[in-house]
Amino acid sequence: MNVLFINGPNLNMLGTREKDVYGDLTLDKINELIKNKGLEVNIKTDFFQSNIEGNIVSKIQESSEYDYIVINPAAFTHTSIAIRDALLSINAKFIEVHLSNIYSREDFRQNSYISSIAIGVISGFGFHGYILALEYLSSLKD
Ligand code: DQA
Repeated sequence: MNVLFINGPNLNMLGTREKDVYGDLTLDKINELIKNKGLEVNIKTDFFQSNIEGNIVSKIQESSEYDYIVINPAAFTHTSIAIRDALLSINAKFIEVHLSNIYSREDFRQNSYISSIAIGVISGFGFHGYILALEYLSSLKD
């Protein structure tokens, strides 16, 4: 199984950005933990981060080699019809992850353009959310 992890804008700032909300691990460290978990459960993991909406759309369009996507679109969650359409265009099976619990935050964070087409949504468990997504995907094997 091949899984692509996509992270949206400002998630490259993890480790210094609003640590009280997003934790103190860098994205590189989180990706290392995900990669190691993947090795444990025999899932190949790849990683992509961009601050640019169009680059995320293009990456999704080019992701046909992957069985699943785990995506944290960050602020684009609440704004991007383009990312939703890209996910629909490849019939992607994907899990939506947020580090924070978006439902306990500002009103504008409580709409997601992608939740209704996701396998499921994990929100509020910090970086563990990515690992939980991988554990779930691992349970689908064989
Ligand atoms: C986020 C939540 C979004 O509302 C926010 O814009 C982010 C990160 C999260 O992981 O909790 O950048 O997706």
